[in-house]
Amino acid sequence: MQINIKKDDFIYPYFVTSGKNKKERIKNFPGVYRFSVDRLLKDIEEARKFGLGKVLLFGVPDKKDIRDDTVISAVRKIKDEFENLVVMTDVCLCAYTSHGHCGILVNDCHSEGAAKRRPKNLKERSFASLRMTVDDSATLEALTKIAVSHARAGADFVAPSAMAKKQVFVIRKALDTHGFKDTKIMGYSAKFASNFYGPFRNAAGSAPKFGDRSSYQLNFADVKNAEREIADDIKEGADIVMVKPALAYLDVIRLAKEKFNVPVAAYNVSGEYSFVKYGAKQGLWDEKKMVFEIMTAIKRAGADVIISYHAKDVAKWLS
Ligand code: PBG
Repeated sequence: MQINIKKDDFIYPYFVTSGKNKKERIKNFPGVYRFSVDRLLKDIEEARKFGLGKVLLFGVPDKKDIRDDTVISAVRKIKDEFENLVVMTDVCLCAYTSHGHCGILVNDCHSEGAAKRRPKNLKERSFASLRMTVDDSATLEALTKIAVSHARAGADFVAPSAMAKKQVFVIRKALDTHGFKDTKIMGYSAKFASNFYGPFRNAAGSAPKFGDRSSYQLNFADVKNAEREIADDIKEGADIVMVKPALAYLDVIRLAKEKFNVPVAAYNVSGEYSFVKYGAKQGLWDEKKMVFEIMTAIKRAGADVIISYHAKDVAKWLS
């Protein structure tokens, strides 16, 4: 069977920041920008002309505060302005916590909400004394609030990516009780503790200030565990399950597709994207041909949708 990629197969990830008239370059992430909401709308308008149909929003506020409403206002305005555009929002804390971890930590005196407990003369280096243990209930509470606020703004999908246990279940329940039964969930189900996320962390300012994410992201050497995580997310109510990264994890994409009868998303992450861009700049390969090969491979493995920073280019190329 011949695999053909279509515009409809793609989701473009956008980084949304506070302020006005901003389109900021990002280190080691050529062609990707942080947009303020006004400039975001212009960029989406451009991409819509080429048939981009789905976007995934990441909030990157100027001030690290979990109550930041940049994404909320972006969703509202996008929904006002564009019809039939599927809007998904990332639901995580890593761009909002000062330590860059995806959840609130046990004994955390660095994130919003714990400010009262913060000693007066706290220095950056005392991050080292924080125990790297995620406080599950505080994290779930924060994630749930964010997810409901995105749904209220009109998001079609929320995508919890903090890897907190039971995050899909808790968010599904909260969406239902708040009257958002139609808001769907894309679970970051098999999200590996990967080395491919470098440029994204520059974009979101979310690199962990200490430790790493291996206590809550998955071990890439253990496929059985990834399978269990996918099964759990489906049981908890995920409408789409995601495998991330994509290229080095085609076997996991295939497994997700074959074992479970649900839509599978693959996240072609920032490091994978930057490889292609820098290689093309060096004359190692033709960017367009390389992107088509990669996207075809991801789809061939079993992905129903592909989240990719190449998505706007692919839409143009297919026009
Ligand atoms: C974390 C998150 C990450 C990405 C999206 N959300 C990775 C991380 O920092 O652990 C990576 C996406 C990419 O590299 O494109 N919530």
